[in-house]
This record gives sequence, structure tokens and C-alpha cells, in this order.
Amino acid sequence: MKWFLTSSTAHLRDALLARGEVLGGHETIRFADGEHGYRLTEVVKDQPVTLLASVTPDPTSLFDLLALFRLLVDNGAQTPSVVIPYLGYARQDRPARAGEGSLGVMVAELLRNLQPAELRVLDVHSPRIVDALGHRAIELSALPLFADQLARGERVDVVVAPDAGARRRAQALAARLVPNAEVVVVEKTRPRPNVAVAQTISGDVKGKCVVIVDDMIDTGGTICEAVRLVSERGARSIRLAATHGIFSQDARERIIRLPVCETWVTNSLPQPAHERMQVLDIAPILLS
Ligand code: R5P
Repeated sequence: MKWFLTSSTAHLRDALLARGEVLGGHETIRFADGEHGYRLTEVVKDQPVTLLASVTPDPTSLFDLLALFRLLVDNGAQTPSVVIPYLGYARQDRPARAGEGSLGVMVAELLRNLQPAELRVLDVHSPRIVDALGHRAIELSALPLFADQLARGERVDVVVAPDAGARRRAQALAARLVPNAEVVVVEKTRPRPNVAVAQTISGDVKGKCVVIVDDMIDTGGTICEAVRLVSERGARSIRLAATHGIFSQDARERIIRLPVCETWVTNSLPQPAHERMQVLDIAPILLS
């Protein structure tokens, strides 16, 4: 199997090589008018290939994915598989206001219509998007990485979902812990886009050792509010786990300053090293 990476996954190159995986090459061209061109730099005819590409907020990443897939097909590779560490636009899974559309579903349908041999996507934000990816898509999860880390530390009493959408993930993590932990859910409101307020919490965290789990940290508002609330409610210790670290604006600095014992994110997106934030490698999950 030969892996082809786009610039969205270039940071995973060394992790794949370290595991003995073989990488394929391509070059990109920028035409005078700004159009992007692509060319494989090796023969793929009749070979099994996997495209490892994320859909980041920059739409070029989606075009790169579609273009590379097309190149592999046009050059006679076996039907490519596609592995997506971060599938952006998944929060736009339905119109939030009149006049909007389901752009996340549009992206998912584009991926499904490629008809890859396999389509594997890590921690998808919304079940609607998983559905739109088609019944053959497989959702991978970083939860086993978080469960491994948690098993090495103080016993978790409560897994906190920082909003209702995170309940399913919190339950799945709680079920992986030994002994299983309780799950509580924060009621979050968004008075305006990108602003989160944690209103209340569905259970007791006083004196408890908690972990807050979410699929992503973007502006950090959701996590910061959840930490504020569980601190106010008397949690004894707090740990944070989120698969996708987007960290818009100053989110990374805000998260690093939180009164928490540990924070884990993964390298689904490139992450700078920081002593207060541990970056877990998703390569074993992608290769599983
Ligand atoms: C929301 O439903 C997501 O699961 C995340 O909780 C949210 O998108 C994180 O965004 P932010 O960090 O900007 O609050």
C-alpha cells in the first residue's frame, strides 16, 4: 500500500515512515492565473493506494483531496482508499438560520461520490455527516488514545460532555474506562456565533476527578466555559481531551492557562509542542 499525502497531512509523514509505510509523491504547480495543477511523480498503475487528506477550513484542502484522488484514478491505480484525519465543515451539518445550507453534507456527499475503496474519517462532528458519508464509511476514534492516557493517572469519576452534542462521545469514553465513569452533560448556549456560555450541569462533580471530552477545540469557548462551571461546582481535578485542536485566534494560550492537570489533543491537525498540552499520535489509529 502506498500513501499519498496532501499539504493538510504533511505533518503525519514522519509518523507513517516511522511505522514502515511507503509514501507516494506528487508535485503541485501554480499557473499564472492562480489555478492549481498536480502531477504524480511516480507510477501507480495497478497499485493499491491510500489518500491521506484532511478537509481544513481552507477550501483548497478539499480541492487537493479531490484532485489527488482523480490523479490516482486517471493514472490507473487500484480504486484508492481515503483516510481523513480532520473533516472540517462538519459543524455546518444543517442550516442554522434561514438562507443557510448544509455545507457539511455537501462536503460529505462529494467524498461519498468519489466511491473510494474505503473511506475512513476520524471523529466526525455530527452523526448527520456520518450518514451523508454513506453506509460504507467508517468512523475512526481517538477515544482509545485518551482512555490509555487516563488509565495511567488518577481514577476518573466523571466524564463531562461540555455540551449536548458531546454526550455520545462522553458516554463512549466513560464505557472504555475501568471502572466505567459516570457521565454528566453541560448545558451550553451560544448567544452569538463562536461565543459559548455554560449554563448548568446535569450531575454532581463536587470532589470528583473529571475529564472533559469533546471532538474539537476551536475558539476554546466551549472548553473554557465547561472548566469554569465544573470548577465552580467543586471538581477536585480536571483533565481535558479533544481530538481536533483547531485553536482559532488565541485559543491555545487560553487553554494552556486553564486550571487543569492535563490536556490532550491529537495530531489530526498540526500541533506545536507545548509542555502544558500533550499531542497524541493518531498514526496507530489510522493504520488500524
Ligand atoms: C460543538 O458542537 C463542538 O463539538 C465543539 O464543542 C465546538 O465546536 C468547539 O468550539 P469552540 O472551541 O469555539 O467553543
